Amino acid sequence: MQNAQSHFLGTKDYIASEELQNSVNISAALGRPLLIKGEPGTGKTMLARSIASALDKQLFIWNIKSTTKARDGLYIYDTVQRLYDSQFGDHDVSNIRHYIKLGKLGEAFVSPEQVVVLIDEIDKADLEFPNDLLWELDIMSFDIAETGETIKAVHRPIIIITSNAEKELPDAFLRRCIFHYISFPDEEMMVAIIKVHYPDLEKKLLEEAMKAFYWVRSINGLQKKPSTSELLDWVQALTVGGISPAKISSEMPFLGALLKKDHDFNLILQRMHNQGAQKKAPTPGFMRNW
Ligand SMILES: Nc1ncnc2c1ncn2[C@@H]1O[C@H](COP(=O)(O)OP(=O)(O)O)[C@@H](O)[C@H]1O
Ligand SMILES: [Mg+2]
Repeated sequence: MQNAQSHFLGTKDYIASEELQNSVNISAALGRPLLIKGEPGTGKTMLARSIASALDKQLFIWNIKSTTKARDGLYIYDTVQRLYDSQFGDHDVSNIRHYIKLGKLGEAFVSPEQVVVLIDEIDKADLEFPNDLLWELDIMSFDIAETGETIKAVHRPIIIITSNAEKELPDAFLRRCIFHYISFPDEEMMVAIIKVHYPDLEKKLLEEAMKAFYWVRSINGLQKKPSTSELLDWVQALTVGGISPAKISSEMPFLGALLKKDHDFNLILQRMHNQGAQKKAPTPGFMRNW
C-alpha cells in the first residue's frame, strides 16, 4: 500500500486533471457529495477507487439500478427471513434487530474510520431517488423506524456520486453537491492514461492507434462513440495480435474492440471503403479528413 495522500492527487493507475483533483479536495473539505458526470468510460467509477486508494480509506460501492430505492442504502428490514424463521426456524424472532441489515450508506455511517462511498450511476434510478436521499446526506443520520434506533455517522464519509447524464437530476439535489464534469480526454491526457495502463507500449503503435481512434470518434452518425475503455481494449488487442503500426489506419484490425454496434461497424467500414476508393494520397486513405 502506498503512503496515504492528505490531498487527492490521482494515483499511479489513475490520471486526474488538476481541476478534478481540486473538485475532489473541495468536496472532501466541505463534507459535500461530489457529483461526477461524463460520458461512459471517462473514469467516473475508477475515480472513487483511486480516491479511496490515495487517501487509504475503505471504499463502499452502492450500484444503483432502475429498481433501487433510497432506503436500500440506509437499511433493509428482512421481513421474509423473519417470517421464514417464525415458521421453520428455531431463532428468536421477537428481536427485530436481527432482521435489520444496513445498506452501503448505513455501513459507511457506522464505520469507526472515515470511508469513501461511491453511489454509482445515480441516473439509473427514478427521479424520486436523489430527492429521497437529500435529508440523510445532509444530516448524515437516519432513523430505523422498526426499532426506533438512530444511526448517526461517526465520520462524514467522502461521497462520490456518478451519473452518465441519462436524466437531469433535481435542482435541490444539485445544490447540495459539488459538481464536476469529466470531459472526454484530449490527446495528451489520453496518451497519459494509456501509458499508466501500458507503460511499455511501442510509440508508433500508440500514435497510430490514437490517430485512428480520434478519427473514428469524429465520424458523424455513430450510435455509440468508442470511449477510453474501448481504446484501452483495442490497444491491447493490437499489441497481443502483433499488428504492425503501419496497418492500423488502413486495415483497422479488431474494430470490434472499438465499436459495439453493427450500425457503427458498417458506417466505419463504409467510410474506409469510400476513402480508400478515392485517389491515393500520401496519408492513408481514411485519415485524410481527420
Ligand atoms: N483518468 C484515467 N486514468 C486511468 N484510467 C482511466 C482514466 N479514465 C478512464 N480510465 C480507464 O477507462 C476504463 C473505464 O473507466 P470507468 O471508471 O469504468 O468509466 P465510467 O465509470 O466513467 O464509465 C477503466 O479501465 C479505467 O481504468
Ligand atoms: Mg462507471
